Amino acid sequence: MDTGLEDLRGRDDVATLVTAFYARAFADPLIGPIFTDIAKLDLDRHLPIMCDFWETVIFRTGGYRRNALAVHVALNDRAPLGEPEFRRWLELWTATTDALYTGPAAERAKLQAGRIAGSMQRRLAGGSGSAYERLDTRERLTASGGIDDLPAG
Ligand code: HEM
Repeated sequence: MDTGLEDLRGRDDVATLVTAFYARAFADPLIGPIFTDIAKLDLDRHLPIMCDFWETVIFRTGGYRRNALAVHVALNDRAPLGEPEFRRWLELWTATTDALYTGPAAERAKLQAGRIAGSMQRRLAGGSGSAYERLDTRERLTASGGIDDLPAG
């Protein structure tokens, strides 16, 4: 079926996706308040970081070198991030991606989001999400095409 959609081609498309995702996430009754009331997220500052992250995940550009796990470990102390929150986050990410893009890069965006969300959720729940551990998008994704401690499905 021809959806009329194209695939993500680079950073501009990543920025479009991430911007659209945050519009949905901020408006969501379950997870929106975590962004707006608890983290009081400054989107102008945050969006370039998110674009670095997703460009690295989808296109392996390697520009993201921060510790995303540590950020969520700290956040989890203030607003518990559990299964319902992660499920909603992933639903919104998947729906946003599907609304805008189609193709191998869009599939990678969804697949890796699911893997990273699962890894984050397990580490937060298991108490092993030490701030010193990393969800190392750069090395592991570049080397193996997927985070290597995660199951395939
Ligand atoms: C329960 C689901 C989630 C919630 C409520 C959430 C919320 C947030 C918030 C509020 C921040 C900003 C924290 C701050 O700067 O003070 C943040 C940062 C971030 N989130 Fe999430 N997040 C969730 C899941 C995810 C997932 C599954 C991913 C990746 C697939 C992700 C990727 C990131 C990245 C890359 C950052 C930036 C970290 C940095 O500053 O380097 N988040 N998230």
